[in-house]
Amino acid sequence: MKSIEVEGFAHRGVGIGRIDNKIVFIENSLPGEIVDIEIKENKKDYCMAETVNILKPSAYRINPVCPYYGVCGGCDMQHVDYKYQLELKKSVLKNILKRIASLDKYNIETAASDEIFNYRRRVRFRCSGSNWGFFKRKSSKIVSIKECFTADKRINSYINSEQCSAFEIEVSDDDKVNPKVLKLDLSSIKKNLYLTYKPGVFTQINRSINLKIIETLLSRIDREDINSVFDFFGGMGNFSIPIAIKGISVTGFELDKKAVDSFKKNVRRLNLDKKAFVVRKNLNRQFTIEQKCAECVILDPPRAGAKSVIKYIVENRPKFVFYVSCEPSTLARDLKILKDYYKIKLIKLFDMFPQTHHFETFAELEIIKKLH
Ligand SMILES: C[S@@+](CC[C@H](N)C(=O)[O-])C[C@H]1O[C@@H](n2cnc3c(N)ncnc32)[C@H](O)[C@@H]1O
Repeated sequence: MKSIEVEGFAHRGVGIGRIDNKIVFIENSLPGEIVDIEIKENKKDYCMAETVNILKPSAYRINPVCPYYGVCGGCDMQHVDYKYQLELKKSVLKNILKRIASLDKYNIETAASDEIFNYRRRVRFRCSGSNWGFFKRKSSKIVSIKECFTADKRINSYINSEQCSAFEIEVSDDDKVNPKVLKLDLSSIKKNLYLTYKPGVFTQINRSINLKIIETLLSRIDREDINSVFDFFGGMGNFSIPIAIKGISVTGFELDKKAVDSFKKNVRRLNLDKKAFVVRKNLNRQFTIEQKCAECVILDPPRAGAKSVIKYIVENRPKFVFYVSCEPSTLARDLKILKDYYKIKLIKLFDMFPQTHHFETFAELEIIKKLH
């Protein structure tokens, strides 16, 4: 066992220290703390360690509210004061953008979540025999739970009710739990606007943050020189439909058939047939698009990022690119390529996942190197 001073904070929610100039990533530790650690893995360039004893705690360390915290593999930042969670996430994003993409000349804005607990509208439980709950930390064993503090309260009532038999539980914005058709309320964007979708279709997990992202997107896209938008990884039209409502022509590209079907149904119900279109496409492969590239491209890929879409952007150079990312390292990898052609106008961190190290990043890019 060794005592160590924690110097910084890294992605995945771990503190950073040094032993004989070798980097040590320390679980359950915060910058400024002095902790006793146990080395769990000794790699060539770094070590992984666990905190065994906190000798000098951070002023931002708080008591986690959840009785499963530390055992359950879900949350990893409940021991941190919420404002400081945001600061740490911002510093992680800054460091990753600098290290991977050599980007450092910009400010990062931050949008906090309105709810820091009970914000998840969808939860997937794990099951083994009659035992069900979440995976334990670093394990595929299950910790049984009666309540998840990040889940919507209606999900918690449902899991403790007799009618509960499903493992994927989602609340609809009309208050129903696991109905056959779900609703996503977008009435803050336009009176009475909502989307419908089938269970299993991707939805952003945090309602208030989703609305903040859509509002930011609309405030930047609703301008005279943007008449057409491509929405890559467009899902069921979470971004596309509000854009079409503004009178801008938009085409979504999406692989999941259920999401594409929901997109089409929403377009029909809202009479947006002349403004919103969707194409089923696998964007992980090299792809072609018949029509001319739109003036503006949105991409919201899964964690792996969007290599093929980046190639498409470089080859077609739309005027504006809006990148919504849930993984800063692949965002940085992709921005490293795009920054040769685009100026980064805005980087904003949206805290979609309070109490965990995850977050969403929004980047706005404008062309500097046009094609010919
Ligand atoms: C992070 S979600 C974003 C969805 C949508 N923008 C929203 O806000 O609801 C990523 C989406 O990419 C889709 N997707 C994943 N892999 C894909 C692929 N290879 N090609 C096209 N779409 C894909 C998923 O089905 C999902 O709908």
